[in-house]
Amino acid sequence: MSLLQAVDLVKHYGGDGVFFGGGRRKIRAVDGVSLFLSRGETLGLVGESGCGKSTLGRLLSRLEEPTAGKIFFAGEDITAWTGKRLRALRRRIQIIFQDSGSSLNGRQKVGAILEEPLANFGMEKARRRKRVLELLATVGLEPEHALRYPHEFSGGQRQRINIARALALQPDLIVCDEPVSSLDVSIRAQVLNLLHELKKRFGLSYLFISHDLASVHYLADRVAVMYLGRIVEVLTVRGLLGNALHPYTRALLAAVPVPDPQRGAFYREAIQGEPPDPGRPPAGCRFHPRCPCVRDQCRGVEPVLRDVAPGHKVACHFV
Ligand SMILES: Nc1ncnc2c1ncn2[C@@H]1O[C@H](COP(=O)(O)OP(=O)(O)OP(=O)(O)O)[C@@H](O)[C@H]1O
Ligand code: SF4
Ligand SMILES: [Mg+2]
Repeated sequence: MSLLQAVDLVKHYGGDGVFFGGGRRKIRAVDGVSLFLSRGETLGLVGESGCGKSTLGRLLSRLEEPTAGKIFFAGEDITAWTGKRLRALRRRIQIIFQDSGSSLNGRQKVGAILEEPLANFGMEKARRRKRVLELLATVGLEPEHALRYPHEFSGGQRQRINIARALALQPDLIVCDEPVSSLDVSIRAQVLNLLHELKKRFGLSYLFISHDLASVHYLADRVAVMYLGRIVEVLTVRGLLGNALHPYTRALLAAVPVPDPQRGAFYREAIQGEPPDPGRPPAGCRFHPRCPCVRDQCRGVEPVLRDVAPGHKVACHFV
């Protein structure tokens, strides 16, 4: 059984109400996404900026209401949960954001930050104190760090604090939204290692959202590739390097910077064409204006995400 499942999930922003003939343009941030995540698994979610990754992460964490579609968690339909049941769910699904600083309250000491979720869920003071020390040790921080403020830490340490807070209530799933993107490469590797160890130790599942294919390759078991609100390919991380089939996935892989002394320190193949506009998705295959393999059919008919091999799905007419 999947831990998490999305069925035809949709999130549109705007497009509501017309004001003097204007009104807000409808943004199709997530536009019909179905996927699953197994217990103990890391699903990488990749795609260009604005394709809807964070929106999907927030929908799956029930931080935003979907426009349509369903979300199942541990076999239960959680799409419309409210009140007590939603509160209990918050314990089981946590989220970590890219900007490690702004998600921590700068006026609270780290000890208080980590105690807060424990207090909210009714743990008494003495046990909370003990748990805070345990959490600090789990993420590689020292007991005395509990007495410091977030601004007294480096970016990598602040992300460790966020991870500790996410772990406080022993969740099943952590949605990691670009958790290492703002960190230096060496610090990035340390935080990725920590996430990897914690997953093994606590049997966690991650939805790991990232621009950086190297990080996804390191941490994920499977990868979902998103383009303009839709999933265009799902495959194992091992398949990603040798067996990616969708022209967009291949373009993303080609766009990874590689050292090339002849062309400059790093050379990257740019993905052709204009970046996508989720307010105006093209007809037919959404990738067709930029696809090097485009044919007539692509302009009129949208391809469905279909199985091409066990565990490998692709949305392209010509794969
Ligand atoms: N609250 C909102 N109101 C209106 N539009 C929004 C809102 N949140 C996101 N969007 C729009 O939805 C689209 C998808 O945004 P989202 O943040 O999910 O993309 P992303 O893939 O996470 O991008 P990035 O890689 O830059 O973080 C974008 O066009 C964005 O401007
Ligand atoms: S359906 Fe056509 S345009 Fe879309 S990815 Fe496949 S070949 Fe390219
Ligand atoms: Mg984002």
